[in-house]
Amino acid sequence: MEADRIKWNQRYSGEEYLMGLLPSRFLTERIEQIKTLCPGSRALDIACGEGRNSIFLAHNGFQVTAVDISDEGLKKGRRRMRDEGVSVNFSAVDLEGYDIVRQYDLIINLNFLLRELIPKEVTALNQDGLILLETILDSPKLPGIHTRRYLLQPGELRRLFNREPGTILEYDEFPDNATPTARILFQKRLP
Ligand SMILES: C[S@@+](CC[C@H](N)C(=O)[O-])C[C@H]1O[C@@H](n2cnc3c(N)ncnc32)[C@H](O)[C@@H]1O
Repeated sequence: MEADRIKWNQRYSGEEYLMGLLPSRFLTERIEQIKTLCPGSRALDIACGEGRNSIFLAHNGFQVTAVDISDEGLKKGRRRMRDEGVSVNFSAVDLEGYDIVRQYDLIINLNFLLRELIPKEVTALNQDGLILLETILDSPKLPGIHTRRYLLQPGELRRLFNREPGTILEYDEFPDNATPTARILFQKRLP
């Protein structure tokens, strides 16, 4: 949506990295498990922002496609990629109504929620491929004002993946964290 592009371009317009330089902790803590379980090295970073997680995956041997609506975020990702001597295919995409056309071995979806995309992510995975997803959970502890449709409700993430063909390898909710989140590591297994 154009309004999202404008909003995120403004947020990313400063020199500093809004989301920081370090990759997601969930991703860094699970990277060895991911490398062991993943059937191949093709990865997709959904709503990659400034590319901190895409670049981490590229350093870990993945061929990464990274999509986001914000060209300012993508610009910073490309600059960092060149500075660090890795390769990521950064691409401007509006994920609303988007169909994932290629197949991947790993899809990461961090700090972004579009419920309609989850079944499409599973369809776009190769057999035994993985999805790692973590995003904000609605909780009385959640600071600030949030749009409800961007927040997971308690138990919702598990329900969304219970419908999909595969195994939930890990599921957690952290309602008492400073930023409450829910997270999942899912492996596709077709019958
Ligand atoms: C909180 S940031 C997360 C960025 C990244 N995943 C990370 O963890 O560093 C949310 C991202 O979603 C992107 N976004 C919002 N709406 C979008 C849409 N309709 N299509 C594609 N990206 C979108 C924003 O541009 C922003 O980069």
